[in-house]
Amino acid sequence: MTAKKKIVLSSDHAAIELRQTLAAHIAELGWEVVDIGPTSPESTHYPKHGEAAAQRVASGDCDLGILLCGTGQGIMMAANKVKGIRCGVCSDPFSARMIRQHNDANMLSMGARVIGEGLAIEIVDAFLSADFEGGRHATRVDMIKAIED
Ligand code: RB5
Repeated sequence: MTAKKKIVLSSDHAAIELRQTLAAHIAELGWEVVDIGPTSPESTHYPKHGEAAAQRVASGDCDLGILLCGTGQGIMMAANKVKGIRCGVCSDPFSARMIRQHNDANMLSMGARVIGEGLAIEIVDAFLSADFEGGRHATRVDMIKAIED
């Protein structure tokens, strides 16, 4: 039996409900879901949630990660400061598939004030069902990694 793939989810206060909906959906798809919150609707600071989730992916504890904030942008910026993280903001399934296939993205970010629940689920499905294609794309991803070093 192969181990379940593990995914971490986090957000700020702007996306708690959508994050919890997506966590339940992803669990139904068979993933081990680590939802690190927050659960309180109180205003909070997206960088700390983005970094905490990114560390789970960068350390190898989780295979992939999903982030949400109002726009998806701030939390993505924070996550991308963690070495080894490649996170893109997506508002459409095509981009979500492409960031896996071409950019080997290990995190996806979305804006809860930008897209609705139905579209967010389609974006997540596209992201999770795509694989990195390697080849010429690996050369380019290696160039991104070299910038970090
Ligand atoms: C919070 O009001 C908002 O700034 C945050 O959720 C996000 O959109 C930042 O990028």
